[in-house]
Amino acid sequence: STYQVGYFVGSLSSTSINRTLSKALIAVAPPDLEFTEIPIGDLPLYSPDFDADYPPGPRALKEAIAASSAVLFVTPEYNRSIPGALKNAIDWASRPWGENSFNHVPAAVIGASPGQIGTALAQQSLRGVLSFCNARQMTAPEAYIRLAPGAITDDGEVTDESMKQFLTDFMQEFRDHVERVLTVLPRT
Ligand code: FNR
Repeated sequence: STYQVGYFVGSLSSTSINRTLSKALIAVAPPDLEFTEIPIGDLPLYSPDFDADYPPGPRALKEAIAASSAVLFVTPEYNRSIPGALKNAIDWASRPWGENSFNHVPAAVIGASPGQIGTALAQQSLRGVLSFCNARQMTAPEAYIRLAPGAITDDGEVTDESMKQFLTDFMQEFRDHVERVLTVLPRT
């Protein structure tokens, strides 16, 4: 069978290296994973005032997660945490109370930065958020990607062989994680 992976890119930048990383991940992923981006850039800011009647964008966000077997977060680090746009999307998806879209959903996090820490603190922050949202996270392997110029082309081709192997292994592990979770917690 095929697993539908809804992926979030935490950056709204038109030159995002995390978007480039997402292309690379899709390119090296096992063939039984199918990917659909879940866009976050046009969502209004969340307020509980919307809980009684969600606008179309946030509604579509929740439907996209519901249609996914699993979710993948590819995010930069902003000021040692996750970008506000991504947090806003997660907040929308987690509500209204009792209708948390992430409940029991298999999930993984990964991110890239030009600097040495490779989004480690953003991912730590994101993991705390996803824990509260009761997503079933892959805990290992972790993937803190320091992207040197040219390691991945703009089209998502991984030119660095050791990085290519690492990303391939990461996606294989993610696939296996999704399968294990869904065996116990099937998505309807
Ligand atoms: C950054 N950047 C950054 N990098 C990092 O390693 N730790 C950090 O805390 C931050 N903080 C931060 C805040 C803001 C507002 C910006 C715009 C940038 C640098 C960041 O890693 C770099 O810009 C990446 O290229 C961002 O990822 P995308 O947008 O290219 O995917």
